This record gives sequence, C-alpha cells and structure tokens, in this order.
Amino acid sequence: MSKLSVSVIFCLLYINFCGYNVLSIGTPRYSINLDLNPPERWKKVGQDYANILKNFKQDILEHYHIPKELVNIADKIGSDLDKYIPTPFSGEMIGLADTSNIPLSEIVLANLLYELTAFCTSIVAQNNTGQIIHGRNLDYNLMKELKPLVIDVDFMRGGKIVYTGTTFAGYVGLLTAQKADVLTITLNQRNEGNILENLLDLLLTNHSMVSFTVRDTLDNPNVTFQSAVNYLAYGVYLVTPAYLIVGGVNTLEGVVITRGRISAISIRQLDLVKGLWYVLETNYDYWTSPPPSDDRRDPAIQMLDKLGRDIALDTLYSVLNRKPVCNSQTTYTTVMSAADGAAYTTHIRDNDCS
Ligand SMILES: *[C@@H]1O[C@H](CO)[C@@H](O)[C@H](O)[C@H]1NC(C)=O
Ligand SMILES: *[C@@H]1O[C@H](CO)[C@@H](O)[C@H](O)[C@H]1NC(C)=O
Ligand SMILES: *[C@@H]1O[C@H](CO)[C@@H](O)[C@H](O)[C@H]1NC(C)=O
Repeated sequence: MSKLSVSVIFCLLYINFCGYNVLSIGTPRYSINLDLNPPERWKKVGQDYANILKNFKQDILEHYHIPKELVNIADKIGSDLDKYIPTPFSGEMIGLADTSNIPLSEIVLANLLYELTAFCTSIVAQNNTGQIIHGRNLDYNLMKELKPLVIDVDFMRGGKIVYTGTTFAGYVGLLTAQKADVLTITLNQRNEGNILENLLDLLLTNHSMVSFTVRDTLDNPNVTFQSAVNYLAYGVYLVTPAYLIVGGVNTLEGVVITRGRISAISIRQLDLVKGLWYVLETNYDYWTSPPPSDDRRDPAIQMLDKLGRDIALDTLYSVLNRKPVCNSQTTYTTVMSAADGAAYTTHIRDNDCS
C-alpha cells in the first residue's frame, strides 16, 4: 500500500500549467553559524517561518496523499530523536521545533518528506572555456506549500562561508549545495521499490539520509571533487536510492552517480572524447527511457545540443527555464559553478516557465 501511495505523491498533479508572468522573487538568504551548538543555529529561520510552518502539516495532509505510514514513522522518530537521527542534525531539528513552536514530529515529517519526494532535473556541463557549470530544477507536487519556504543558506565557521545551499525553512538537509572553489552537488530522487520499507531499521543501522550526507561531505575541510565522488558513490550507506550529481572546478569534473542503498550502480562522467560535454539527470536511470508522461530528459538534451558548448550560467538557466524541463511543479531553479562561488543564484518559481 505504501508503495502505491508514495508513487501517488510522485505523480500527483503532474500537469502542465505554466503561466507567463515573469515575476522574479528574491530568494531570502540566511547564515547558519556552525560554531554554535546545533539547537541554536536555526533560531532566526525558526522564528521567521513559524507562521508558515504552523499550518504545514495540516495543509499537506489535507491536499496530498501522504502515506499514513510516513506520518507514523515521523512520530516514532520524533519521540526518540537521538536514537534515529545523528548529530548535528538531531540538535538542529530540536532547535527548529523550539523556536518555531512546531511539534518535533512535524519537523521530522517535513525532513522526511523532502528527502523522499524530490523530482528534479540536474545538469553539469563543461563549456568552451573549460569551466564547469551546474544547474538544477527542484520539482515537487507540494509547490504551493513549499515555495514560501525556499531559502539560500550560507553555513559559516570562524566567520567564513564553509558551504552554501538551498533548502526549505525547517529542513536541515541539503538537496542543492556548493563548496566554493571545490565542488557543487545536487540530489535527485530515485524511485526504486518501496522507499518506506525498513526506513526505521535502516536509520538504526549505518544508513544515512542522503541530504545529511551532502552536508557531511561539504563540511569536511579536506574534501576534493574526487574524494567526494568516492565517498558519495561507495563510502556511505543510504536510506534511499538517489542520484547525486557532482561538479568540480577542473576539466572533466562532472558526474552523475546512480546510487542504490549500499553503493553506486553507475558513475557517468564527462568525457569529451565520447562527446559527453554535459551529463544530465532527471529521475530515471540513464540507460532506461523516461516514461512519455514525464520526459524532461529528451527536451533538455535537444536544447543543450542546440546551444553547444558556448554555454554559461545564464544559458544553462534558459534550458532549465523552458517547458517541459520547467513545469508546474518546479519550485526553484539554481545555477552555480564552484569556480565562481559568488555566482550562486536561486530563482523561486512562480509558474513562470517559458
Ligand atoms: C584534514 O587533513 C588534516 C591534515 O592532513 C588532518 O589532520 C585532519 O584530520 C583532516 N580532517 C578531516 C575531517 O578529515
Ligand atoms: C555498515 O555496516 C555493515 C555491517 O556492520 C558493514 O559491513 C559496512 O561496511 C558498513 N558500511 C558503512 C558504509 O559504514
Ligand atoms: C563558461 O562559463 C563561465 C561561467 O558562466 C562564463 O564566464 C564563460 O564566459 C563561459 N564560456 C563560454 C565560452 O561561454
């Protein structure tokens, strides 16, 4: 039953309804000070978003078919947080619950929900000047509820930015992130079997939430593109399958890692000899065809091939901005390049695909 209802979440509302109003919404930007104790870090976010978060659970339960099983799992985790969630994420969730006055189990539910249901398009390309550029759309059928929660976050230590990411207020993991001068990572959901099955058991053993793994990877001061790829591919067990798209700063540093729970099934890397000047991932294994009802891959390939390698962040954005790559569920678009950390840009969508 849960397999069915989870795919209902994935497929719900998959209709094209893209208006043309080009309303640009500035993405709020927060600093999270990693020198503070975890419960102190998200105080400002918890306070600023308390009013929106207050109705979140009720809204999503009313409007979407969230499996009852997921709600039960969140309750269970919330009642014994330290047992299931590692530090610092457990402490950060507790702090968010405190400052926003939202029950901890609801904060847990939000964190699980984002982790399990992100439909997306991610592209890493190497352009004619050899620069690696990375872009992503994050698609959710919860667009209406999630849009007001999108924030860019700089994670600081000793007054310096350690890494930057885009998330939803209340969610402590990262699905989109950059460590300037080193690498960029995006995460796309990979739907394989019943993702809720064994979730609690997996959390109790050494399986990690993938969006926490992204933060852990970027928090390591010694991380390189290659060490990150090795770690994300083979160094960590995950609670769910996923696609991890990683870009670096040197030529050919761009991969799509197709992950099972235990390890990588495939790593597809930029390869100019084979004509792979970009790698692209939506939510289907690249060796299979996307279903005709949700083919964002082929339109993106056609646009990229037409543009060719004279591509920069703005033209990459134009690919992510076009229907059906951009669609009624696209919640935000981020473009970034580790070589130019300041260029990190997130656009919150408002049914404004072109
Ligand atoms: C990073 O490298 C330094 C020097 O080799 C080492 O002392 C430190 O433990 C490493 N840190 C991590 C988190 O691996
Ligand atoms: C997880 O635990 C199993 C069993 O103890 C072990 O064989 C495996 O190496 C561990 N994996 C990771 C990534 O720590
Ligand atoms: C490559 O991308 C970078 C970053 O967007 C840009 O500055 C540069 O002009 C691009 N090169 C070409 C040939 O478009």
